[in-house]
Amino acid sequence: MTYSTKYTVLKRLLETGDNYISGSEIAESLNISRNAVWKAVKNLESDGIVIDSVTAKGYRLGCRDILAPELMPGRKAVILEEIDSTNNYAKKLAAQGEPAGTVVLADTQTGGKGRLGRSFVSPKGRGLYMSMILRPEFDISLAPLITSAAAVAAAESVEELCGCDAAIKWVNDLYVGGKKICGILTEASINMEMNSLDYAVVGIGINTAAYDFGELGSRVTDLESETGIRPNRCELCAKIADKLEYWMDNMEKRLHLDEYRRREMLTGSIISADFGGEKIVGLALGVDENANLAVETENRKRVVLTSGEASLIRKI
Ligand code: BTN
Repeated sequence: MTYSTKYTVLKRLLETGDNYISGSEIAESLNISRNAVWKAVKNLESDGIVIDSVTAKGYRLGCRDILAPELMPGRKAVILEEIDSTNNYAKKLAAQGEPAGTVVLADTQTGGKGRLGRSFVSPKGRGLYMSMILRPEFDISLAPLITSAAAVAAAESVEELCGCDAAIKWVNDLYVGGKKICGILTEASINMEMNSLDYAVVGIGINTAAYDFGELGSRVTDLESETGIRPNRCELCAKIADKLEYWMDNMEKRLHLDEYRRREMLTGSIISADFGGEKIVGLALGVDENANLAVETENRKRVVLTSGEASLIRKI
C-alpha cells in the first residue's frame, strides 16, 4: 500500500464525521480495492489512531482530532509530540533559513509562553499549539499589525469550524462564551542594517478540547465545552495559516482591521489599563489604524494604548 492511500482513507474517515462508512463505500469513492481499505485501516490503527469498526455499518474514527502533516496539504508542517515552546522551535528554524509559511505544531508544550512573561498552559492533546514563520515584505512600520491580523485569522477560523461567535479582546485574546479560548504571542527578529523584519513567528494557542483549568476555569475555557465541537487541530491550523497569509498579503491596505473592530469586545466599555506605568480608567473609544486602543480617561484626556493589557470594568 502506498503511503498516500493510508492518508486518503484517513481523510475520507474525517469527512464522514460521526457517521459510519462502509469499506466498500470508501473503496468506491477512492477508486481502490476493499482489501486496500482494510490494509489502510490496520495501518492507521498501528499508528495509534482509534477506528471503530462495526459489522454491517463500517468504520468511524474514534477521535477526529488527529495530528498528521498529511492533513495539511500544500503547507510544510513540522509536528512534534512534545516541545518546550513551538515559538522557540520555529524561531530556530527561521534563523536557519526556513521559508515563510512553515508551521510548527506540538501535541503538548512543557514551557508554553504567554505575553508579558506569563506561561501558557498546554495540556497534551487538548489544544492547538502552533507557530507560523512569516517573512513580511512590507515596511517595518506595519509590523505591529501582524498580531491583530493573526487574531482575525484565528477568530474567523474558530467561527467557521465551530459555528460560534469569537470576540477579540484587545490586544490579541479570543473569547468564546465570555471566557478566553486563545492567546497569541508574536516574536520577531529585526535586521538592524536594513531596518526591516528578518522574520516573525506568530504563536497561537487555542484550547480545543474539554479540560479542567482548575482555578483558571473562571476566566479560561475551551471550544469543546463552549460549542460542543472539538475541531481537528490540523484543519484549524491550516485555515488560520491560509487566512493569515491573505491578511499579510493585504497588510498595506489594513483590510483586516474592519474584521478586528467588528469583534473587539472592549470598545464602548469602561476599562482599566496601565499607561506609562500609571493605572488609568476610561472609556475605550476603539481601535485605530495601527491596532492601538484609544481611550478617553476619567478626566477627559484621550490616550492611545499601544501594547500591554486592558481589563473590562463595566459595559455601558
Ligand atoms: C497569551 O495568552 O499571553 C499568549 C499565548 C500564546 C501561546 C502560544 S501556544 C503556541 C506558541 N508557543 C508558545 O510558547 N506560545 C505560543
